[in-house]
Amino acid sequence: MTTSPDERKPISIKAQYFTESVIREMSRLAAKHKAVNLAQGMPDFPCPAEIKQAACEAINNDVNQYAITWGDKPFRDGIAAKTATYTGITIDPETEITVTCGATEGMIATMLALINPGDEVIVFEPFYENYGPDAILAGATPRYVTLHPPDWHFVEKELEAAFNNKTRALILNTPHNPTGKVFTKEEIEIIGRLCSKWGVKIFTDEPYEHIVFDGAKHIAPASLPGMREMVVTINSLSKTYSITGWRLGTVIAIPELTAAIRKVHDFLTVGAAAPLQEAGVRALRLPRSYYDHLQADYTRRRNRLLPVLKAAGFRCFDPDGAYYVMTDISAFGYMDDVEFSKFLVKDIGVAVVPGSSFYHEPELGRSQVRFTFCKRDETLSAAEERLQKLKSIAR
Ligand SMILES: Cc1ncc(COP(=O)(O)O)c(C=O)c1O
Repeated sequence: MTTSPDERKPISIKAQYFTESVIREMSRLAAKHKAVNLAQGMPDFPCPAEIKQAACEAINNDVNQYAITWGDKPFRDGIAAKTATYTGITIDPETEITVTCGATEGMIATMLALINPGDEVIVFEPFYENYGPDAILAGATPRYVTLHPPDWHFVEKELEAAFNNKTRALILNTPHNPTGKVFTKEEIEIIGRLCSKWGVKIFTDEPYEHIVFDGAKHIAPASLPGMREMVVTINSLSKTYSITGWRLGTVIAIPELTAAIRKVHDFLTVGAAAPLQEAGVRALRLPRSYYDHLQADYTRRRNRLLPVLKAAGFRCFDPDGAYYVMTDISAFGYMDDVEFSKFLVKDIGVAVVPGSSFYHEPELGRSQVRFTFCKRDETLSAAEERLQKLKSIAR
């Protein structure tokens, strides 16, 4: 983030306050250097064949015009049914769901609809890089609360100290990108108590809800007693069905909040792709065994990458959920995560995300980089072969 915006520049002050996405820049560098891309969280394996088939059918059946701005009815019904099955939350698809272009649009639409310039938004740090620019675009000031490694816990007193009369919302992402932390019921209850005390809304971002390991359990904050009204649940089909390019997301909130979110969403994008919403209905009807397999597959991928990274010299913070590993790079003698990431992509042939892109002060992430493991076995094997070269420089 730049710190000295200039009103005379031809671009807005807001746009000067943040940089382009480092994650997506790393993907471009990976392509340029023909590196194995373990940077951006996009699967390189196919999505389920029946979903692809459904998308082709929808297009061939001429479902090619705008859907209702807040989402096609069968898709909203499908979201309501799946949400009830897997989280126990009952929602009215007529008044409590907005279908967006990914969780990405879901979060910015929510912020623009529910936050005023000058408000403060609490963000756990490290954080998914979108939240900073989202807050800036909404005119809000982020207040960061540290997640402490190695288990990425937060300290209740530190969280409590972040609240004040300007606090409007708290962003909670579970399972968490980049750390793989899965917030426990007790932690979410603490967050809920403090938010309730201060009249603060919780915006939860849960695209990795089905990707958890070793018995960790995803708790949807809106499912806990007394929290339904204060939580806006943002979710996505991107990760669960390996369709990050389809841009299908959802926002669930009580009717009063949904009405505002729908208005903002309408003017931002009109709506998500109509044929893909129709195909999404097919995805939402997949049986429970689909999610069990997804979890087993990702557990296998995680268990494949972790020993490779450890053998190469990285200190790993083993994730309980999502599909990333945060690592400490101190063993390699680099003082700068960006420099190390450039060396990795150019000289070793593996792209990662520099840790500093997950912190508001780059210094805080200087000794970290993030790997993703949402990749085919061949891709992980190619990465393994290349990362072996690091052993000679690790201390
Ligand atoms: C925590 C988190 N939220 C949102 C997104 C974006 O999701 P979508 O593809 O639905 O916009 C990502 C993607 O990496 C993510 O990690």
